[in-house]
Amino acid sequence: MPAYGPGPSSPDPRETALILAGRAWVRGRLEPIEVAIGQDGRIQSVGKIRSGAPRHDVGESVILPAATDVHVHFREPGGPDEVENLATGTVQAALGGVTLVGDMPNNPHSISDPERLEEKARLVPGRAAVDVLLYANPFGAAHPERLARHAGAFKLYLSPTTGISEVPDPAETDALLRRLADLDLPLAVHAEDPAGFVRGEPPGDPRAWDGARPPAAEMEAIDRLLAAPARLRLHVAHVTTAAAARRIRAAGLSFEASPQHLLLNERSGSDPRFKVNPPLRSEAERLALWEAFRHGEIPILASDHAPHSVEAKERPFDRAPSGMPGVETMLPLLLARVRAGELDLPTLIAAACDRPARWFGQPLGRIAPGHRANLIVVDFRARRPLSGRTLHAPCGWTAFEGMDAILPREHYRDGERLVEAGEFVGSARGRVVRPEYAPGPPGAGP
Ligand code: DOR
Ligand code: ZN
Repeated sequence: MPAYGPGPSSPDPRETALILAGRAWVRGRLEPIEVAIGQDGRIQSVGKIRSGAPRHDVGESVILPAATDVHVHFREPGGPDEVENLATGTVQAALGGVTLVGDMPNNPHSISDPERLEEKARLVPGRAAVDVLLYANPFGAAHPERLARHAGAFKLYLSPTTGISEVPDPAETDALLRRLADLDLPLAVHAEDPAGFVRGEPPGDPRAWDGARPPAAEMEAIDRLLAAPARLRLHVAHVTTAAAARRIRAAGLSFEASPQHLLLNERSGSDPRFKVNPPLRSEAERLALWEAFRHGEIPILASDHAPHSVEAKERPFDRAPSGMPGVETMLPLLLARVRAGELDLPTLIAAACDRPARWFGQPLGRIAPGHRANLIVVDFRARRPLSGRTLHAPCGWTAFEGMDAILPREHYRDGERLVEAGEFVGSARGRVVRPEYAPGPPGAGP
């Protein structure tokens, strides 16, 4: 026997392990078809499959690619009061149809050097249910070049927020952007310019929070980013207005919008559970952002899952932390909008599955040969109102309470079942991933 290659008991990766049969999202539409999944967890072929492998017919449900969420805060390593960790966060992701998350670096000790990044990476194997790409914070990093060799992406904060008190001044920002342009990693930016914040009475509700961190502060930060070197792979996080979306799109950069800014406004609730950075906006701004999303003008949907405990959110508004959970509800809320006829399925799949996976350079987000068999099964008839009590976030609450959602019935990771009948049945096989290829220009087209 040669000293290389698979041993006699290793399964032949060319052998089919499982066939999923039903209406599946292939070539940009739903088709009655069969999907063959190999022993290696990759999609082998799509069509009529001749094989004796186990066959699972999804009946009236549909088979879709699982989603990638480029923006979560799973808080590990964290402080004693955290209500999330990589294990709890990735189970919520799996239940919400999210198969890969990008975890942000605003831990209590910012992830700004390779040692901290390695420490965080060591927490993933054996604990994460889905794959994790780790962001590093380049501001204050002694060696962004060394960080770039280990991180999956960079995240730069231009304004203070949870865990971030120091931010670069404009000259430092410009210099850092030039330096990062030589490192071939995606860079997400929290774009609010503190110079545009309005000081006055301590804000007491989401409307006052919107007034204190207004859309103009977001636009000012975006304008600064547009002057960055063109070769920098820039992505603007949680854009809140259609005007900002138009400006970034015209410049050909990548960006995301989050369900809270698409579905909630500054009057959706008055308590600190509705406090987020950047703030919830007026109903007119929300509607314009939703229209842009509906028309496929927003390339990426991301949750900005940022849970805080009930106790922290019970503080007076101006002293409560910003952020809300969302990784379990992002795709289900939007699937319900598809069912209601308010959103097209191709637009949602492009923004939640295909483009974010490509932005992270992963073979995910499409049902096509060679891609990983990370798939979900959705029954569009199974629409239910959300409740913080039945969701899986340890914080125990959702700002989307009572809104319709369609949670996936099944979720497969590399062909292995993570979710069955809406329950988590998987194990912690998630791993740390880094970009495998550089995507082409973002554009918003499919
Ligand atoms: O609302 C937010 N919460 N915005 C951020 O920028 C950070 C996040 C958090 O980590 O809680
Ligand atoms: Zn965030």
